[in-house]
Amino acid sequence: MRIGIGADHGGFVMKVQLARKLAEEGHEVVDFGNMVYDPDDDYPDFAIPLARAVATGYVERGVVLCGSGVGASVAANKVSGARAALCHDDYSARQGVEDDDMNVLCLGGRTMGTEVAWDCVRNFLSASFSGVARHRRRLEKVKQLEQSGSRINRQSEEFISQGERE
Ligand code: RB5
Repeated sequence: MRIGIGADHGGFVMKVQLARKLAEEGHEVVDFGNMVYDPDDDYPDFAIPLARAVATGYVERGVVLCGSGVGASVAANKVSGARAALCHDDYSARQGVEDDDMNVLCLGGRTMGTEVAWDCVRNFLSASFSGVARHRRRLEKVKQLEQSGSRINRQSEEFISQGERE
């Protein structure tokens, strides 16, 4: 599978370890950075491009890390079409795909050990969306909100630029 991976300084070491394991298992790993350890870097700079790559289909799934995994999930979920969640256990990592069609797994480099993180990654990648009607219905409600949000954002941008012209 073609998998995107990314991390800020809080997840950098674990990203290197997970990327190595993924490659060993035969996955194609696309690294969205950071490519070097930089204690001053910012998780949105990696989480957002990675989430966009998932949403556009450039990669099939994404794994993104920061210190806690919280900031990465907040940022990734702002991208339309990304369904990101922070998981600390393999059950959530699998069920999040089966029921919620999660396509970006968020992990905390400072809150979990590499082996637990690796279990999460493996469960995330081996799962597929069940397609069951009730789960589709729920996702449709999320999609509707996402689409109305974009409409509202566009309307506010038009309103602001109109105000600027006046
Ligand atoms: C960076 O120090 C830290 O705040 C970040 O990696 C992450 O944990 C944010 O949620």
